[in-house]
Amino acid sequence: MTRVALIFGGRSPEHDVSILSARSVAAAAPRPRIEAIPVCMARDGFFVEPHRSAAILEGRGSADIGDPAFSFETWWRAGHADIVFPLVHGVGGEDGVLQGYLESIDAPYVGSGVAASAVSMDKTHMKHAFAAAKLPIADAVHVTESDWRNERERITRAVTNALRLPYFVKPANSGSSIGVTKVKRDGDLLAAMDLGFTFDDKVLVERGIDAREIEVSVLGNDRPEASLPGEILAARDFYDYEDKYADGKAELVIPAKLGADKIEEVRRLAIAAFKAIGGAGYARVDFFLERGTNRLYVNEINTIPGFTSISMYPKMWEATELKYSRLIERLVELGLERHAARKARRDKAMEWLRGARKIV
Ligand SMILES: Nc1ncnc2c1ncn2[C@@H]1O[C@H](COP(=O)(O)OP(=O)(O)O)[C@@H](O)[C@H]1O
Ligand SMILES: [Mg+2]
Repeated sequence: MTRVALIFGGRSPEHDVSILSARSVAAAAPRPRIEAIPVCMARDGFFVEPHRSAAILEGRGSADIGDPAFSFETWWRAGHADIVFPLVHGVGGEDGVLQGYLESIDAPYVGSGVAASAVSMDKTHMKHAFAAAKLPIADAVHVTESDWRNERERITRAVTNALRLPYFVKPANSGSSIGVTKVKRDGDLLAAMDLGFTFDDKVLVERGIDAREIEVSVLGNDRPEASLPGEILAARDFYDYEDKYADGKAELVIPAKLGADKIEEVRRLAIAAFKAIGGAGYARVDFFLERGTNRLYVNEINTIPGFTSISMYPKMWEATELKYSRLIERLVELGLERHAARKARRDKAMEWLRGARKIV
């Protein structure tokens, strides 16, 4: 039996979505092979001890305040679990911070490591990684808050010279479409930038692509595989926060209705995007398929995608004949494999060092 500490919640606006993801995983984890132990990260950033965490997961009790007296590190070192499944979306959970903490206590965990998580969370670094791997991405102007405050006219000129309307303005570090604006008139750029800078000190102004939104699930460590693609049919002007969570009117079409060649291309690009950021375990890669040109653009990669049983990520695997409960088990195996491989390398490196000349 593998005991999995399921960390959920967190400080980001995706706290509630994370609870839903963790609830689904806890319910579907194949017993007795996997035992899920819920550990909540409260909204104040502190961990909650496992009993109260279990109650929160079941919808009883508030996740506003953690238990400052509970030390996850002490709990982990006492040997209560074999691996951690961090199911915390967004800032503080998906951006390498939690992964770094887990590295520092040498806990195996599911999913991408520190660098891949950090690169994927920050859209400026993510786009640089994609560009370096020669992946197709939308033209964009990256703007820092201080440049915007000091050189607004020059930047506005740079934007209007480089891009045609509409633009998408988005904070570099966000998610769930929070802070994203579709700008249809130049006069609306100012308000869109202000909103973007509410969430981060860097924003991207991107060429708006008239496109179908296609997503692919990737699974694996060194030899990642891609699922069949799915499509999001946004119910609003674009796939915004309301559409994702509040109205939930967006429709998911799985598998996406695409020709065999496009399916092949989008799966190949998804694997290339995963490798470009150095991903591990799993990730969802999101694309734009431009209507006029039929060209694919990689929009983003999510290293901790929504993971309820009805979320895109597991649904796309189900369409590719990998069941939700088996997927959970596979993720745990991949996390343990990655930890063992890294430990073996560390041990070998230590052995080499022991043979090296002493400095002190
Ligand atoms: N360049 C673009 N062209 C067209 N639509 C876009 C563009 N960028 C973002 N969008 C729309 O905004 C949504 C959210 O943007 P995205 O970059 O995916 O940020 P998030 O990390 O918040 O999901 C997308 O799903 C899409 O509907
Ligand atoms: Mg997105």
